[in-house]
Amino acid sequence: MRGLLVILPLVVLLVGPLRLVGASPPPQPVACTSGTSDCTVTNVYGSFPDRTICRAANASFPRTEQELVAAVAAAAAAKRKVKVATRHSHSFPKLACPGGRDGTIISTRFLNRTVSVDAGRRRMTVESGMVLRDLVRAAAAAGLALPHSPYWYGITIGGLLATGAHGSSLWGKGSAVHEYVVGLRIVTPAPESQGFAVVRELVAGDPDLDAAKVSLGVLGVISHVTLELQPQFKRSVRFVTRDDSDFAEKVAVWGGLHEFGDMAWLPRQGKLIYREDDRVDVSMTGNGLNDYLGFRAQPTLGLITARAAEERLEKNGTDIARCLAARVPAALFELQAYGFTNDGVFFTGWPVVGFQHRIQASGTCISSPEDGLLSSCTWDPRIRGPFFYNSGFSIALSKAPAFVADMMRLRDLNPRAFCDMDAKLGILMRYVKASSAYLGKPEDCVDFDVTYYRSYTDGEPRPHSDMFDELEQMALRKYGAIPHWGKNRNFAFDGAVAKYPNSGEFLKVKDRYDPDGIFSSEWSDQVLGIKGSPNIVDVRCAIEGLCVCSDDSHCSPEQGYFCRPGKVFKEAMVCSDEKPTGDRRDEL
Ligand SMILES: Cc1cc2nc3c(=O)[nH]c(=O)nc-3n(C[C@H](O)[C@H](O)[C@H](O)COP(=O)(O)OP(=O)(O)OC[C@H]3O[C@@H](n4cnc5c(N)ncnc54)[C@H](O)[C@@H]3O)c2cc1C
Ligand SMILES: *[C@@H]1O[C@H](CO)[C@@H](O)[C@H](O)[C@H]1NC(C)=O
Ligand SMILES: *[C@@H]1O[C@H](CO)[C@@H](O)[C@H](O)[C@H]1NC(C)=O
Ligand SMILES: *[C@@H]1O[C@H](CO)[C@@H](O)[C@H](O)[C@H]1NC(C)=O
Repeated sequence: MRGLLVILPLVVLLVGPLRLVGASPPPQPVACTSGTSDCTVTNVYGSFPDRTICRAANASFPRTEQELVAAVAAAAAAKRKVKVATRHSHSFPKLACPGGRDGTIISTRFLNRTVSVDAGRRRMTVESGMVLRDLVRAAAAAGLALPHSPYWYGITIGGLLATGAHGSSLWGKGSAVHEYVVGLRIVTPAPESQGFAVVRELVAGDPDLDAAKVSLGVLGVISHVTLELQPQFKRSVRFVTRDDSDFAEKVAVWGGLHEFGDMAWLPRQGKLIYREDDRVDVSMTGNGLNDYLGFRAQPTLGLITARAAEERLEKNGTDIARCLAARVPAALFELQAYGFTNDGVFFTGWPVVGFQHRIQASGTCISSPEDGLLSSCTWDPRIRGPFFYNSGFSIALSKAPAFVADMMRLRDLNPRAFCDMDAKLGILMRYVKASSAYLGKPEDCVDFDVTYYRSYTDGEPRPHSDMFDELEQMALRKYGAIPHWGKNRNFAFDGAVAKYPNSGEFLKVKDRYDPDGIFSSEWSDQVLGIKGSPNIVDVRCAIEGLCVCSDDSHCSPEQGYFCRPGKVFKEAMVCSDEKPTGDRRDEL
């Protein structure tokens, strides 16, 4: 989700040298009208892809494992639907919603302590609500390092494991955090004779661990997580921008060349930003810091202004105006070294060398004290700032070059249509290794991540959204891509579970752990292929990614958007405002 950073440069331009004194942390996802009952739960953007409001009868906030067991037992005894909510709930899809109206929420907000550290065996056990920032700091304090993680540290260990979150690497065990899990404790429903809830302790070698380490939260509540860490190390990072002429070849090899390598493609500019990022000895000089620009707090005023400008461009701008504006973010990010510094204060040049815990992830916008929303994370829903979707899908490494070649053909048909992608810093590509986790990646793959404008108005069409939609449909259908469980819009999950050869094993464990399905919701049943489809077929559904269009009414014919086949991937069906006769392929 590096893309959302986009806005920052605009903010910097518009607000100039305004200094931030503090920032408001993200709002809490669980809100109850009276004490802990009559609650709603949402994600950190304040909106699920289908824009519904998720209700729950009540919420509990356990502070110990014992209290957690009691909370699960109460729900199990009453056969009430239950879901875990985390400190901020960063997943886009409706994962945190218990379903129905009288469900219950168990928050891991206060389960955020280190349980034990065994420096000799390099193991650390933490409570599941611990935020990644605190986890990597606690590890570092013991001389240890979590070798890979997502780039954003505002998420919890329980939540990021549930969705299979990752960084970028093909080396060793790879970039997914669940590869480093060697044990966990999970509270599941149980028969009355066992008090309605039990703690199951899973250790390395137990096949159930392959279900529990990427679980979508449907097996029970993870209480403790034990990670196998490495001795503290340093990294040396450098970003290099090159043209995209050999993109298809590079995507296949880059992950082999650098332990933490990734790439970002700016399609309109025809550029690739390569991240050359490798492990170096701790004795190497450098105390570098990654305080990624996109994850810093931004002044509210700037966010509102930036969004207003973006809306004007989207609704009323020309391709030329949009493309001019789109050049600014990447240039400003490069100029500011993406937020990296060599010593925590100044950037003096690449490479930046620093300790793993200062480089692997960032997110200073979550940390500052309440300041009445003078500033906030870019996506804070309490202000009318940037609003976006984030799609993430993984394609087998062996197929990635062909996908990239197709993507470049699509770009070449109309490069200007891709300016909005440049404006969000392009498509980020990261490497993830095949996993033994039943819902982890079945093969070594490249994860493609793209952030794009979302309208505050439901069903409002957007220029060139057909390009984005064709690209996603091509990935998912032609190249068998699997969607990131914590990102994406509904249609991406249609049929997704069939792409996991071991999903049957997962469902068996689910039936054993939670036979009444109290941890399952409408949404989890839909994405796991148990009941119903994640698609919502309705007027304008394709505009919001709730369906793939099969009829013009799924687009917005009144505004000139009709359901049309794709240009490179002809089996795609997308909402397009081009005249049917004006097919550009005929002009080429
Ligand atoms: C700015 C940003 C950057 C991101 N960067 C990356 C990235 O670099 N790489 C990447 O892979 N992903 C990334 N993501 C996605 C992110 O990793 C996932 O959305 C992650 O699941 C969010 O974790 P969370 O703690 O907010 O969990 P939530 O979204 O709150 O929860 C996810 C699911 O886990 C369940 N759950 C949570 N805790 C428990 C528990 N203790 N026991 C059982 N179930 C539980 C919840 O019920 C829910 O079903 C990013 C997201 C954002 C917003
Ligand atoms: C939650 O609400 C249900 C239904 O109203 C009730 O039976 C249950 O006791 C409540 N639980 C808590 C912890 O308040
Ligand atoms: C747990 O959360 C509390 C409340 O936000 C915070 O003050 C504390 O530092 C966190 N604990 C750890 C170990 O990070
Ligand atoms: C769109 O552009 C036209 C012409 O420049 C202008 O008159 C109109 O006010 C603009 N509308 C919006 C919503 O900005």
